[in-house]
Amino acid sequence: MLETQSLQERLQGLIKGTILTDEPLASHTYFRIGGPADVMAFPADLEDLKRLLKMARDEAIPVLIFGGGSNMLVPDWGVKGLVINLSRTFLELEAVDERIRCGAGVRTSRLLALSAMRGLTGLEGLTGIPGTVGGAIKGNAGTPLIAIIDHLDWIRIVDGGGGERILSRDALGAGYRRTALPAGSVIVEGCFTLRRATVTEIRGTISKLLVRRNLTQPVAVRSAGCIFKNPPGDVAGRLVERVGLKGLQRGGAQISEKHGNFIVNLGGATAADVLWLIERARTEVMVKTGVALELEIQVVGSPIAG
Ligand code: EPU
Repeated sequence: MLETQSLQERLQGLIKGTILTDEPLASHTYFRIGGPADVMAFPADLEDLKRLLKMARDEAIPVLIFGGGSNMLVPDWGVKGLVINLSRTFLELEAVDERIRCGAGVRTSRLLALSAMRGLTGLEGLTGIPGTVGGAIKGNAGTPLIAIIDHLDWIRIVDGGGGERILSRDALGAGYRRTALPAGSVIVEGCFTLRRATVTEIRGTISKLLVRRNLTQPVAVRSAGCIFKNPPGDVAGRLVERVGLKGLQRGGAQISEKHGNFIVNLGGATAADVLWLIERARTEVMVKTGVALELEIQVVGSPIAG
């Protein structure tokens, strides 16, 4: 406790942004699951972020970078060290001709809304994908129609030592639902190049995708989006359905009856409940179909990696 307090005091003196202690992460995740963060910092600007990263590196304080909290499962016992929450920083969003420059903290829905309003096509496939643009780029978020990196020119990152760099799309080591950014680096901005189309056309596509999503996904219940990556040549949700696990419940968590690749929080679910269901789905799918499902969500501090 003493240690936490002194870290909070030192951080308060170091940055202009807000510092919270013992902050319940359940309030910040789409799942509404997760114990407290020892210390959560909201950097006010780039300078704050650089200072936080440098201090954490110099003092070997573990850091968790937190975006929109949409694709993340946080342990019930919480997170030790420093959580840097970027959801209130880097909110610039600007369109010039076919280009959009976008801060990492901007919601993907806002980026999509601006591109539609300006008659810029390309990102419609991101319809309904929650979270921040920084998180979406890091995980190369997308659907079978598009991956966000398809339309990206470059990103600006801050590295662990507080240095800034621009990386072109080709330097991101991007693949299906992943990038290979330098360890300890944080995305602060991205620049997209899109194509011209009519506003009506773009809005029509978005509406169709929203209707489809509402019909096929459990959008009204708390979840973290798709749990697993789709394996090559197949669909994770279909495999979970085939092995008969849709609707399986553990505590307050349930494998969605609507879509097999979603786990929903029916109320009071713990991270342990969700992890149990994940392991059960992985095991059954492996035993009955021979397919190894990999995690799409980030499971913080767990030995079960993606
Ligand atoms: N399907 C089943 N059973 C299920 C779920 C799906 O048979 O329980 C079948 C569907 O009938 C359909 C096929 O599987 O024929 C594909 O399903 P869907 O269109 O729902 O797509 P998905 O591959 O399961 C992907 C993305 C979603 C995105 C949708 C948009 C991944 C891992 N998931 O899901 O993204 O919203 O496409 O169509 O790529 C996310 O990443 O968090 C996410 C929700």
